[in-house]
Amino acid sequence: MLSLGLSNRPKLSPETFRLLRDVIYVRSGIAFAEAKTYLLETRLSRRLEIRGLKTFEDYYYFLTYDPEREQEFTQLLNVIVTNETSFFRDQTQLDVFSKGVVPRIMEEKSRSGSKNLRIWSAACSTGEEPYTLAMLLMEAGLPAKGWTIEIVASDISEIVLRAAEAGHYDKYSLRNTPDVYQKKYFSNSADAFSIKESVRGFVRYKRINLIEANDTRSVIGFDVIFCRNVFIYFDDVSKKRAVSHLYDSLARGGYLFVGFSESLHNITRLFKPVSIDRSLVYQKA
Ligand SMILES: C[S@@+](CC[C@H](N)C(=O)[O-])C[C@H]1O[C@@H](n2cnc3c(N)ncnc32)[C@H](O)[C@@H]1O
Repeated sequence: MLSLGLSNRPKLSPETFRLLRDVIYVRSGIAFAEAKTYLLETRLSRRLEIRGLKTFEDYYYFLTYDPEREQEFTQLLNVIVTNETSFFRDQTQLDVFSKGVVPRIMEEKSRSGSKNLRIWSAACSTGEEPYTLAMLLMEAGLPAKGWTIEIVASDISEIVLRAAEAGHYDKYSLRNTPDVYQKKYFSNSADAFSIKESVRGFVRYKRINLIEANDTRSVIGFDVIFCRNVFIYFDDVSKKRAVSHLYDSLARGGYLFVGFSESLHNITRLFKPVSIDRSLVYQKA
C-alpha cells in the first residue's frame, strides 16, 4: 500500500477536478464549486491510498470503469459529505411535527377512516432522525386505538444506513436528548447507548438517492417527509429534482419538513407554505 505524506501527496489538476466533480454531481446531485478543489484533494487522497492508486486520473478511471466502482462511490460519498446529525435536532420543528402536524393528520384521516400514519426520513444519515420521530410518536401514545405507524429511513449511503440499522450511539449523539427519553428508549452499556427494539421495530431502512426518480418511485403515499440538511449540498437543479420527487412521494395534504436554515423559495411552487407556531412547513395541496 502506498503511504503518501503531505509533500508527495498527489495533486488534483483543474481538468481532473472537473471530471470528478461531474461524476459526483451526475450520480448524487452534490455540487462542488471549483473553489473546493483543495477540499476534494485532501478528502480523497486517503481513498487513493487505500485503493493503491497513484494519481487522481487513476482514481477517476477506477470510479468510472472498475468492477468495484459502486462500492468506491459509497466510500467517496462518506468522505465528502458531512453526516452530522443528532437525536432531537431542531426541537422547534419537532414540536411542530408532534403537536401540530400529527394531530392535524390524525384528525383528517379519522374522517376518512384510514388509521395508518406513514413517515419518511429521507437522507437520515446514521438514524438519529427517524428514531427521534418514532420516540415522539410513541410518547404521544401511538400506536393506539387501531392506529399503525410506519417509518421509512433512507439515505444514499449504505455505510450510514448500516450504522442506523445497528442503532448504537455515543453520548455525543444524545446531547439534545431529554433524560426521560434516554431512560425509556435506550439501553446503555459502558461505551454505547443502544436504541431499544420497541423503537427500532417501527423503522424500515432503504437506500434511496433523492435525485433518482427510479429510487423515489419505490416509496410513496407518505403523510410526512423529513428531508433536512441535505439540500445544502445541492445546486438549484438538483434541489428542483429532489423536491419534485418528494412531492410525488407525499400523499395529498401531506407535509414536508426541510432543514431549519433551508428554504424552497424560488425552487418550487408545488407546495403550499404553512406556518405553524412560527415554523415553516410545506404542504402538498
Ligand atoms: C447532514 S446529513 C442530514 C441528516 C439528518 N437528515 C439531519 O438533518 O440531522 C446529510 C445526509 O444526506 C445524504 N445525502 C447526500 N446526497 C444524497 C442524495 N442524493 N440522496 C439521498 N441522500 C443524500 C448524506 O449521505 C448524509 O447522510
